[in-house]
Amino acid sequence: MKIGILNQKGGAGKTTIALHLAHALALKDYQVMLIDADPQGSARDWATAREGNAPFSVVGLDRPIIHKEIGKLAIGYDYVIIDGAPRVSDITRSAILASDLVLIPIQPSPLDIWAAHSVVELISEAQIYQPDLKAAFIINRKIVNTAIGKEVVEVLKDYPYPVLKAALAQRIAFAESLNIGSTVLETSPHSIAASEINAVVEELLNTKK
Ligand SMILES: Nc1ncnc2c1ncn2[C@@H]1O[C@H](COP(=O)(O)OP(=O)(O)O)[C@@H](O)[C@H]1O
Ligand SMILES: [Mg+2]
Repeated sequence: MKIGILNQKGGAGKTTIALHLAHALALKDYQVMLIDADPQGSARDWATAREGNAPFSVVGLDRPIIHKEIGKLAIGYDYVIIDGAPRVSDITRSAILASDLVLIPIQPSPLDIWAAHSVVELISEAQIYQPDLKAAFIINRKIVNTAIGKEVVEVLKDYPYPVLKAALAQRIAFAESLNIGSTVLETSPHSIAASEINAVVEELLNTKK
């Protein structure tokens, strides 16, 4: 299965979610490849910062040929996770065409919700040719115990895609673990942060059935 983590808004949480999702799936003994489609190469930097081998393959492909290459690249892998690029819509379009499921990370603020328009449009266009393409929002950096989390789910109802029940809160552990080439699944496997990631994975695996 190919999952694109896409939103042209920089800082939405694409790389954070892509790396954590890839790691969580690898820990479940799936063969996982992460395609770093961002010319800034954050996921490749993560792999470089890591001591020892990454638990999944990290490949850089930051040109709009992902949809052409993915068939070959995905051979032997259970999951391919695409960490998307900011701005450049041709790479995002290519990543959408390469995906079975697009996850759109979104922070619970009006600016972020408006900014999601552009990726939603690209997905809707792709669905004309790929009616099986699925998409869902994933709330990132939720501030625990605030009303805005609920409001954002209400506002997102205007978009044609569901919102995952599992969400990620604003937690410094996500950022700190990535800085050292790790993830919270390694640095703090029993933390709430790790349980949030595992809940996302469970939801994805369950809805796939
Ligand atoms: N849930 C979170 N809690 C704390 N920091 C986060 C969270 N999600 C993302 N960040 C931080 O926000 C910044 C942008 O996230 P990133 O995943 O790089 O976004 P993108 O790849 O969409 O540009 C990074 O510094 C990252 O560490
Ligand atoms: Mg990124």
